[in-house]
Amino acid sequence: MQINEIGENVYQIDNNIATVNYAPGVQVYQEKLIEYEDKELRLWNPRRSKLAASIIKGLSVFPFKNDSKVLYLGASAGTTPSHISDVCTGGRVYCVEFSPTMMRDFLDVSSCRENLIPILDDATRPYNYQHLVEDVDVVYSDVAQATQTKLFLDNFKLFAKDDAIGILMIKARSIDVTMKPDDIFKQEKKHLKQGGLKVIEEIKLDPYEKDHIAFICEKSF
Ligand SMILES: C[S@@+](CC[C@H](N)C(=O)[O-])C[C@H]1O[C@@H](n2cnc3c(N)ncnc32)[C@H](O)[C@@H]1O
Repeated sequence: MQINEIGENVYQIDNNIATVNYAPGVQVYQEKLIEYEDKELRLWNPRRSKLAASIIKGLSVFPFKNDSKVLYLGASAGTTPSHISDVCTGGRVYCVEFSPTMMRDFLDVSSCRENLIPILDDATRPYNYQHLVEDVDVVYSDVAQATQTKLFLDNFKLFAKDDAIGILMIKARSIDVTMKPDDIFKQEKKHLKQGGLKVIEEIKLDPYEKDHIAFICEKSF
């Protein structure tokens, strides 16, 4: 088994990636745990996490650092947030999820990870949780909704520091099932530009997620 550190708390293990477990001995989605030196690594499944798929497909801008403050929209049961929690051990990850059922599962995950802050609310209404969230280094959005780009822009404007990075996961079929995915990607990129953001990297997520793209953005001045 070949193991290399490829980022802060992120490892490559043969053709897989993994993060250093913040909560040793605890699995989040039955992922494999591997002992390595004095650490426990958690395999990061690209079929369960679009961020893992982006990394495996060559993501070059990885904005998550040990002390990063992150706003995560669409936390679901916490699969990807848990890996970000492994990386940002000295930071905070504010996780917004509007489904009470998902939030219940998420609370199990966040109960042993002090850097995950659960917020049960609707990400289309960022003013609802403005009093709970500080300015952040990264805004990550994965909500699979028709209005996902607007929702992302509204949150970015309210919470992103000037040098923040935004990561928007677009599911073409959530926006319009009749349009070609590539046309949707162009349209959403235009919306990001009109909203004052510049796309600095884009990664299609197939074969892990069909008709999905990751847009990595920053403020354009
Ligand atoms: C594709 S899943 C997210 C998967 C998760 N990001 C991961 O990788 O572990 C989308 C989630 O967004 C949530 N969601 C959709 N619209 C939302 C909204 N307006 N506000 C908050 N959460 C929303 C859904 O309930 C669902 O749990």
